[in-house]
Amino acid sequence: MNNDAMNNDAMNNELLALEGVGKSYGTVRALQDVSLTLRAGEISCVLGDNGAGKSTLIKIISGLHHHDEGSYTVGGEEVRFDSPRQALDRGIATVYQDLAVVPLMPVWRNFFLGSEQGHRRWGGLRLDADAMRATTREALARMGIDLHDVDRPIGTLSGGQRQCVAIARAVHFGARVLILDEPTAALGVKQSGVVLKYVTAARDAGLGVVLITHNPHHAYLVGDHFTLLKRGRMAGSHPRDEIGLEQLTTEMAGGSDLAELSHELARPAVTGPAVTGPAVTGPTTTAEPREERPQP
Ligand SMILES: Nc1ncnc2c1ncn2[C@@H]1O[C@H](COP(=O)(O)OP(=O)(O)O)[C@@H](O)[C@H]1O
Ligand SMILES: [Mg+2]
Repeated sequence: MNNDAMNNDAMNNELLALEGVGKSYGTVRALQDVSLTLRAGEISCVLGDNGAGKSTLIKIISGLHHHDEGSYTVGGEEVRFDSPRQALDRGIATVYQDLAVVPLMPVWRNFFLGSEQGHRRWGGLRLDADAMRATTREALARMGIDLHDVDRPIGTLSGGQRQCVAIARAVHFGARVLILDEPTAALGVKQSGVVLKYVTAARDAGLGVVLITHNPHHAYLVGDHFTLLKRGRMAGSHPRDEIGLEQLTTEMAGGSDLAELSHELARPAVTGPAVTGPAVTGPTTTAEPREERPQP
């Protein structure tokens, strides 16, 4: 890439970009021709059903997998990470669905896991627990996270609180890109709201956020850009001002697929006498048109 292009990217605040990215697992084409640009201070949502390729996409961004087609650039420079550590060194932090925490360890130990503070002594590291406790408290408070007791085992926190700690941790350790894989998937309405609040706090701190979700309502609450994946391909890519929640929901639900499903569900279930054994009154899910039951 030439200097002009690099300067342009810097002026756009572009943190990373994927262009025409593809990835296969053996004979399974998990991703095909996917493009996405992430800028600082932006939440880019990736939506799609199970198996759409969302996790594969973020595994490529976060250095866990290699793409085998297309290009991946960070700050305008082509990259090929060999490990999540390399991505992290470039400021790309990932919070996975199944958070890697040590449940019995206190919150502050988990906060510093892998980045412990202390002094070298007798060939080992003597942990500076008080400093780490204080820093954890401050970092959480700075994100507006109200957690009084950082000595609590992290396993006693709710799923939502754990996501929040993970987000604060990434911000504290200087991430410029935060990738979240379905952070609200296992959460109730209220906890989801709390997590989404900290997602916007990360954006407001100037990070670029890639938010994976299959919930268009969650995406639309916070998103600046929406990419839809369907069976590994991009089925849509829209800046917020070009799409409303309703259209996003329809596209996410599969548009025409949903219309077909609603048509199918509207059909009377089984005509004739009730059957208890294996259904013998004919197929119920074929494309074959069947007669509507006359309305009384
Ligand atoms: N490690 C793997 N080996 C083989 N196939 C995989 C692997 N990971 C994902 N896949 C397949 O790739 C496709 C996309 O999966 P994934 O990226 O996990 O989708 P999503 O996160 O949207 O549910 C699916 O068909 C899935 O079965
Ligand atoms: Mg997934």
